[in-house]
Amino acid sequence: MQRVVDEQRGGAKAGPPAALQPSQVDLSVDVGPLKLHNPIMTASGTAGLGLELEPFFELSVAGAVVVKTITKKPRKGNPMPRLAETPSGLLNSIGLPNKGIDAFLEVTLPRLAGKARCLVVNIAGTCTGEFAELAGRLDGQPGVDALELNISCPNVEGGDLPFARDPLVVQRLVSDVRAATRLPIITKLSPNVADVAAIAQAAKDGGSDAVSVINTLLGMSVDWRTGEPGLGTVVGGLSGPAIKPIALRMCWEVARRVDIPIIGIGGIVSVEDALEYLTVGARAVQVGTTHYKTPDIVPRLVQALRERLAAAGRQRVTEQIGTLRAS
Ligand code: SIN
Repeated sequence: MQRVVDEQRGGAKAGPPAALQPSQVDLSVDVGPLKLHNPIMTASGTAGLGLELEPFFELSVAGAVVVKTITKKPRKGNPMPRLAETPSGLLNSIGLPNKGIDAFLEVTLPRLAGKARCLVVNIAGTCTGEFAELAGRLDGQPGVDALELNISCPNVEGGDLPFARDPLVVQRLVSDVRAATRLPIITKLSPNVADVAAIAQAAKDGGSDAVSVINTLLGMSVDWRTGEPGLGTVVGGLSGPAIKPIALRMCWEVARRVDIPIIGIGGIVSVEDALEYLTVGARAVQVGTTHYKTPDIVPRLVQALRERLAAAGRQRVTEQIGTLRAS
């Protein structure tokens, strides 16, 4: 009270602003129509159906949980080996194994619903119509908050070629899905394209509410002694820290050219990584490969994000978004 009186009299000088406490930082972000209580999401495929993470943290801690890709029919996945480690990344050729949409709706969704604050179901079809059909089946399902369209899996018939690389195909696919559902749509983009921003624009034009940038980069490994490839399918998708600079560049390219919310993905192992994605324009991030080493990475990142932002004097995480200084 005395300080207020002093200031009104022009007496006491205002001191430095009181230090911000981590608990005071507002981590909430909007990703199109989705309201996330923090920007840390799980990436599809690296945490199974989401339930696999429950021994490590409460799913409600995550900004959103993204379920591994669901397809119309059950899929067995690709021949072994499906994973190959590289010095700073992980190659995978999993091939979208899952029990199909019927089993997901009957068995998995009832177990998942209500556990995550925001549940995103990742879907993939063998043709445009199948994407739309899956979207229609998920429309209005209690507990499903959004769809992520996996147009970019490199490990299926034809790789990501059929859907991810042609802007006209992307636009038509997304608009067919848009017509089939009222759920928010996130389109997951492939990095294996010449102009990722053109694909993001096509997704937006088709009615996508957001894009997730990026899926894995095509890669391979080989044992020169035996001639054996690291993956059963020879070529697969590379994820992990090795791809972060490429993913950051692609997020930035999309951010500067297309007015659509971006979810950054690729090689996030620390809060610094997450903050870099926000700085180049992502509104949220997905954490993937790191789960294999640090399964409780999500709560760690959420806490570290609060601490870093408080120390930087940021009251809201949104103040960090798009702060890249570039001409
Ligand atoms: C897979 O199951 O092959 C990985 C999923 C993906 O890269 O989209």
